[in-house]
Amino acid sequence: MESADVRADIPILEEVIYLDAASTGPTPRPVVEAMCDYFYNYNTNTGRGAYSLAIKTTQKMQEARQKVANFVNASPEEIIFTKNTTEAINIVASGLSFQKGDSVVVPNIEHHSNFLPWLNLKNKGVNVKVVKADANGILDPGVLEDAVDETTKLITITHISNALGSVQDIYEIGKIAEDHNSMYLIDAAQSIGHMEIDVQKTKAHFIAFPGHKGTLGPVGTGFLYANLEEAQQLEPVNLGGGTVVDVSEEGYELEDIPARFEGGTANIAGFIGLGASIDYINRIGLDKIEKHGVKLTSELYQGLSSLENVTCYGDPQNIYGIVSFNINNMHPHDVAKILDEVGNIGVRSGHHCAIPALKHIGAYQQGGTVRASLHYYNNLEDIQALVQTVQEIATTFGA
Ligand SMILES: Cc1ncc(COP(=O)(O)O)c(C=O)c1O
Repeated sequence: MESADVRADIPILEEVIYLDAASTGPTPRPVVEAMCDYFYNYNTNTGRGAYSLAIKTTQKMQEARQKVANFVNASPEEIIFTKNTTEAINIVASGLSFQKGDSVVVPNIEHHSNFLPWLNLKNKGVNVKVVKADANGILDPGVLEDAVDETTKLITITHISNALGSVQDIYEIGKIAEDHNSMYLIDAAQSIGHMEIDVQKTKAHFIAFPGHKGTLGPVGTGFLYANLEEAQQLEPVNLGGGTVVDVSEEGYELEDIPARFEGGTANIAGFIGLGASIDYINRIGLDKIEKHGVKLTSELYQGLSSLENVTCYGDPQNIYGIVSFNINNMHPHDVAKILDEVGNIGVRSGHHCAIPALKHIGAYQQGGTVRASLHYYNNLEDIQALVQTVQEIATTFGA
């Protein structure tokens, strides 16, 4: 499938020049149709009924879990369905038993979803060691390793920064975690669906994924890869229907993994949609998506950085899918508003839920940055339209 074919499957792209993939990916028709099929033809609950339609729904959910597992080279038992990336990270941060004196190592450029759950552990006496990325938002694995010692229970990092697009060396950091016998969690919110993620190669024990971003699945879906050995150590935080095999007045016996972490009725249509979105991404091919993304990211950075009165952030040699920039002397929200009104272009502006990252690069005082982010459905015309409109704004209002 070519980029133009994917464009044709996404109706909102007729309405707007969509450069906000990092927030959420628009859902293509075949994914919507898979969800409609569920609603129209077998809209029943999973794992609870003995009648045929309920059995069909259970099977469809199992198929979706298998597709997700295959996509990241995991087994289905290692895939815990969640409502988003944030929930996946919180299952680990709240579920592991941290003791006073344990430490967690986390970079200073994380999305709040991979920062606050760890910061919160300070309440339990955990030492949260925040390590500094360089000026371009790249974390030197050596700097991270310096912070690791025998108290380190977990190391975490985001694969691709949502604020800057900087790509981290998750494989080198995996080796560090292994050498120091530490647990390792990756936030893959901005890389899944854009490039291959093989959980085995990363050496991570936990990886948090959205379903609604790079994989072009529906909003309200995400998943946690949890290595079976480490998953045994997680205390489920959402107990209830579907999480136990036996209950008495004295206590309960937990279900197997992953069911014990998926209390209550799931977003069934959403996960069936997620399975269909993975089929869709596989039909395009991750290699093709990544190549297209590398090319457009480079065009975008080059175009914007060549403009007068415009500052781009990050190292162009080491970003993917995202370019963060500012027009000097303008608030990013004003720029985004004008881009919408004048160019019909949708971008994100502000602190991108990554306030420490914005402080780190010195853009917080200005109100953050404007962030353009892309996917396979974007084309050179989208990039040119953005660059040209930014140029007009920068010439008129910039300084
Ligand atoms: C790097 C990163 N981590 C976590 C999140 C939170 O994702 P979700 O909205 O799926 O919880 C985002 C969202 O943009 C993100 O970019």
